[in-house]
Amino acid sequence: MQRTVEDFAKMRLDVGGMLDPKVYHELYLSARQSAHNILEIGTARGAATVALGLGALDGGHENVRVATVEKLGESYTERYGTPEDYRARLYGAFERYGVAERIDVHFGAARAIVSDPVIEAGLGLMFLDADGALDRDFSDFYGALVPGAAIIIDDYGTDRATLYINPTEIKIDQKHRLTKLLVHYFEEKGVLRKDQVVKETYFGARPDGATFEPNADEIFQVYRELTFSDAKLSSAAYVNSSRLLKKISPSFHLWLKTQLGK
Ligand SMILES: C[S@@+](CC[C@H](N)C(=O)[O-])C[C@H]1O[C@@H](n2cnc3c(N)ncnc32)[C@H](O)[C@@H]1O
Repeated sequence: MQRTVEDFAKMRLDVGGMLDPKVYHELYLSARQSAHNILEIGTARGAATVALGLGALDGGHENVRVATVEKLGESYTERYGTPEDYRARLYGAFERYGVAERIDVHFGAARAIVSDPVIEAGLGLMFLDADGALDRDFSDFYGALVPGAAIIIDDYGTDRATLYINPTEIKIDQKHRLTKLLVHYFEEKGVLRKDQVVKETYFGARPDGATFEPNADEIFQVYRELTFSDAKLSSAAYVNSSRLLKKISPSFHLWLKTQLGK
């Protein structure tokens, strides 16, 4: 079975995904190729998990499992609802799309599942969409990637900081900038090879024979580049309307957010 971008546009609205439908479609296609297990860091409402699960199903590799991990940070109730509602909606989505049997959900920090049997069995795909600490995730999971495994990283957009302005505060978001800096560092070290970028998502792979040995001093130098930064203002329309809009129509809010680039 082949699924289309249109299928993923519908799924994204239904589940409440944060990424562009083209990205979910590409995640699906990558997961189809994987003959080994799949790891996602940053489950949120589970839209990417559904795309990865459908890829695992349609790829025809019966043993491929999807491990997904969600930290459930401080503001998660505000974002995703009460813990009960959140879990019911998440598992409900997996059931609706027929992928529940393939998925193992873990709640907590990603680091806690390093020794999970699904990870230790070997990963054919790793999708990082959490808090931008890619060096931590590479340190923890790179060794489990089989040669040539797909490494997919979200928030590979601007190389400037983004400013979000609302009436009482300014938020400075450096995640995209840090992602660009760390991806560049990994490429230079020969541990990551770019295949393509879809919207703001980087699709790459572990080059054959590459091993990642974390070098704290070098990584510290990368973080030091954050001291000074150019910044761009996020779209005024989105910033001004987002809180109210989110209350009135969560699905329209999500759509607008995707259109305006977060
Ligand atoms: C941008 S959202 C993920 C979006 C999702 N993949 C989708 O398709 O819509 C990022 C999520 O990562 C989670 N997160 C942040 N740091 C994490 C960590 N260290 N381990 C696991 N999850 C984490 C956050 O709680 C948040 O829900």
